[in-house]
Amino acid sequence: MLDATRLRAPCLFEKVVSADKAAELITDGMNVGVSGFTPSGYPKMTTMALARAIKAGKKCSINIWSGASVGPEIEEELANVGGVRGRMPYYSAANKSMKAGINDGTIEYIDQHLSHFAQQIDYGFFGNVDVAIVEAAAINADGSIVLGPGIGNIPMLVKHAKKVIVEVNTSIPLSLEGMHDIYICAKPPCRSEIPIYSVGDRIGSPYLECGLDRIDCIVESDILDHVRNLCDPDADSIKIAEHLVDFLEHEQRHGRLPEKMLPMQSGVGSIANAVLLGLSKSKFENLEMYSEILQDAVFSLIKMGKIKQASGCAFTPSPKVWKMYKEDPQLYNKSIVLRPLDISNSPEVIRRLGVISMNTPLEFDIYGQANSTHVLGRSMMNGIGGSGDYMRNGYLTIFSTPSTAKGGSISSVVPMVTHADHTEHDTMVFITEQGVADVRGLTPVKRAKLIIEKCAHPDFKDQLYEYLRIAQRKSGHMPVDLRHAFDMQANFEMYGTMKEQHKEGVNHVE
Ligand code: COA
Repeated sequence: MLDATRLRAPCLFEKVVSADKAAELITDGMNVGVSGFTPSGYPKMTTMALARAIKAGKKCSINIWSGASVGPEIEEELANVGGVRGRMPYYSAANKSMKAGINDGTIEYIDQHLSHFAQQIDYGFFGNVDVAIVEAAAINADGSIVLGPGIGNIPMLVKHAKKVIVEVNTSIPLSLEGMHDIYICAKPPCRSEIPIYSVGDRIGSPYLECGLDRIDCIVESDILDHVRNLCDPDADSIKIAEHLVDFLEHEQRHGRLPEKMLPMQSGVGSIANAVLLGLSKSKFENLEMYSEILQDAVFSLIKMGKIKQASGCAFTPSPKVWKMYKEDPQLYNKSIVLRPLDISNSPEVIRRLGVISMNTPLEFDIYGQANSTHVLGRSMMNGIGGSGDYMRNGYLTIFSTPSTAKGGSISSVVPMVTHADHTEHDTMVFITEQGVADVRGLTPVKRAKLIIEKCAHPDFKDQLYEYLRIAQRKSGHMPVDLRHAFDMQANFEMYGTMKEQHKEGVNHVE
């Protein structure tokens, strides 16, 4: 029930409407911005009401702009009824209807580096923001908003929105108040540096500035975020985490990493979560995270005292972690800062702090290029997300994944990726359960040999060496660019054979 703890001025109660009424503000072809990042902090009531209206005959198909993929109340409900015309800047395969629409071309999807999106909205590259829908814990008397656990791009979306709908969700603990640090960069040529010099620095306001007059209506909600449970660490993830810890210790011993560990970033998914959890067994203390998303492992590491400070644009608490948070909110409030996505993923800040970037690709090739998004070059799995922001700008960049996928039937180390999200210019270190390939400073052929030797699964090593042998024979002493052209040919011969051989029982061609 909405009360004065959530709506902190009497006039706000006059703006409360039903979700159906709020959904009437949204019409065909609009650009609609939503708060949230992953299934965390996103609005639910209004989009479900819109989906119902569309099902009942309303003609309405919209462009949805967010921080990242959000939850089923948007991705599934609207995609299911043909309510999504376009989607930016990210989506996740967990949302099956959205995935189907994107892959069959009925939904126009544009995959973007997540740090780019807010500033490109600000520059007007994509047109107007017609409506912004914000999920909030509360609204202050001056119309500023206390956000929930996922910020994403909502500060920029609200800045430009012609209409603002606020869903006040009574299931969000009010103790989150103060965790946010909302800062909006000025546009060039007036932009100065983002003044973050250490992970915990606060540079903005704990509230999203909006103003009473800009809030068109308020909808009450109590729907919990749909956070999926992450898998428990399996044998491969545990091994990858052990290799990671050994590697970081090795770098410290050789003076390439300072004694006080640099801030870390960790990507999305079960593998990234399990690898991060592996740090609990390391000797590292007082760790810091400067990351996009803070998954469950971060909370466990804060509780253990391993992580001292963490910054992200959202946290995605599974039910288990919400319980942990509610038992000791002060511990997490003092350790966590939530920022807008363009700040959490800012290349400038990532470089200044010297972030160690750790992400999971779908596959990587022997030359050190990584595919994070497209299965066989054409079927979208997940978007690139912030992996490019971090892998291009990190002090040290580490891609880790099990050496095989689909129950061991295909190799995650391939001759050449069919879609390159990260070229060899942006990558440094690869880790699988088999070992670590540190390819810094190596030429292409040396990279290839090391990656096969250290990272490939034994079942695929011979084929990968054979591919390299064919590629070298065909290319001889040609300049590198031409050699790559010949590589492509050898790649298709060999890659085709590999995929053919392991097609049986593999369902990844969708
Ligand atoms: N070929 C085909 N499919 C593959 C694959 C490969 N080489 N590797 C993994 N997959 C499939 C899995 O089979 C699984 O599909 P399923 O759900 O149909 O079974 C799916 O990818 C997810 O893999 P999973 O093993 O559950 O791992 P995960 O939850 O750790 O996710 C990624 C792995 C790669 C999908 C995820 O890390 C990702 O989206 N990365 C790219 C974006 C990114 O780095 N974001 C971070 C931004 S900071």
